[in-house]
Amino acid sequence: MASSDRTVVVTGGTSGLGYECARNLTRDPHNTVVITGRDGTRTRELAATIGARGMALDLSSRPSVGGFVAEFAAADLPPLAGLVCNAGVQFTRRTLTADGMEATFATNHLGHLGLILDLLAHFTAPARIIMVSSGTHDPEQFTGMPHPLRATARELAYPPSPTESAQRDARRRYSTSKLANLQTAYHLARELAPRDIAVNAFDPGLMPGTGLARDASAVQRFGWKTIARALVVLPGVRTPRGSGADLAWLAAAPDREGITGQYLVGRTPVRSSVASRDEAVQQALYRDSLELLAELDARADR
Ligand SMILES: NC(=O)c1ccc[n+]([C@@H]2O[C@H](COP(=O)([O-])OP(=O)(O)OC[C@H]3O[C@@H](n4cnc5c(N)ncnc54)[C@H](OP(=O)(O)O)[C@@H]3O)[C@@H](O)[C@H]2O)c1
Repeated sequence: MASSDRTVVVTGGTSGLGYECARNLTRDPHNTVVITGRDGTRTRELAATIGARGMALDLSSRPSVGGFVAEFAAADLPPLAGLVCNAGVQFTRRTLTADGMEATFATNHLGHLGLILDLLAHFTAPARIIMVSSGTHDPEQFTGMPHPLRATARELAYPPSPTESAQRDARRRYSTSKLANLQTAYHLARELAPRDIAVNAFDPGLMPGTGLARDASAVQRFGWKTIARALVVLPGVRTPRGSGADLAWLAAAPDREGITGQYLVGRTPVRSSVASRDEAVQQALYRDSLELLAELDARADR
């Protein structure tokens, strides 16, 4: 093993942005790349086609996160230097996890936070964590998505019945989860700086054609795969390949060493929404999320 050899984990590396990011990372022979997906067999097979390792991970399930961390620890890989928190879901109706938690919040936010915390002991500094967020976190951007909710973590985890159409509510929970990703990135950047673990957030831009619309109607999926793809000439519209290269750069490029606490659109650091930068709110989200994780773990132990 050369001294520069390192492992980078990309969650949700079986499709879209994560797959392209992982593909890029495998071009450097010093990178051992681990991609994750919910179906272990499919993920391992796909990983082999790009020279990566595949492991099963369902972020909506604490036992699955635990299983992944155990498999990762037993795999005897080069030092863990990067974690790309990329996996994401977007629903078109209220969806709950097996624990009865709202699934967008549980997967995109809480699942990734739990994964980071469970992997912390495995990082070798200097290391990097990237949270994939989205312009939809910002009410001042026109993204076509409902604005994020202002609510406590507990309210987001166990919400009352929708007060708007089920589809609009589900889409709002997506933009809210992307705000939570960003708030968590800022909080962890401060928390992990003394350990030389940099934490940054990334907006890949709109990437029509990825699997993100898998829960949508057949007509909507057709539009996402075909008509929307033609929009790639518009500003802010990207391809998974282009954004995957940017994300890989963020995860591994030497010129990004030690830079933390940034939000980047592509490769450009930008100012995120006012709400995302409120430190008291970031802290409250983090504290309440730890409580929710502890409750889930206690339930799983029973
Ligand atoms: N597409 C866009 O326009 C856009 C814009 C801004 C931000 N983003 C963000 O970019 C990231 C990647 O999205 P994408 O567009 O590339 O979507 P995608 O093609 O659907 O990829 C999502 C990945 O997440 C994995 N995944 C789904 N459910 C999971 C779960 N419960 N646990 C663990 N992994 C799970 C999927 O793997 P398996 O199905 O194999 O489990 C897949 O590899 C997301 O965080 C999304 O919010 C996307």
